[in-house]
Amino acid sequence: MKLAIGADHAGYYLKEQVKEFLKSKNIDFTDYGTFKIESCDYPEYAYKVGQAIVNGEADLGILICGTGIGMSITANKIKGIRAALVYDEQTAKLSRQHNDANVLCMGGRLTPEEEAKKIVDVWLNTSFEGGRHEKRIKLISQLTGL
Ligand code: RB5
Repeated sequence: MKLAIGADHAGYYLKEQVKEFLKSKNIDFTDYGTFKIESCDYPEYAYKVGQAIVNGEADLGILICGTGIGMSITANKIKGIRAALVYDEQTAKLSRQHNDANVLCMGGRLTPEEEAKKIVDVWLNTSFEGGRHEKRIKLISQLTGL
């Protein structure tokens, strides 16, 4: 499994912490930036990570901005992306079980580092349940064309 990770300036610090966590678990990832703390625009990084998944360069993605909101709005406009804005372990788990989320969005200014690591851990270790949820995932694409 390969991950794509990205952040804007407001998510940069938490991205670096999440990267350390991924390394400690031997999880393969590519960092799509930003690589510095100077102000930048979150849509660029959401687009890069989303495209990496759509193009098959990565299986799953993690996006971090100040709130996670801008990243989730942008990523969800890419066909094939199901981005979930998550603030705790329960929503992390449900976003995989019920929604087959392929991008995890977090708020770098709102989610403490230790909580973020727990969120990433549970998100990566939870599978889609399928069944009745499969039909609903297909319906998202059918109704929106995304
Ligand atoms: C940057 O100030 C902030 O607006 C951005 O990181 C994000 O929270 C937007 O949704």
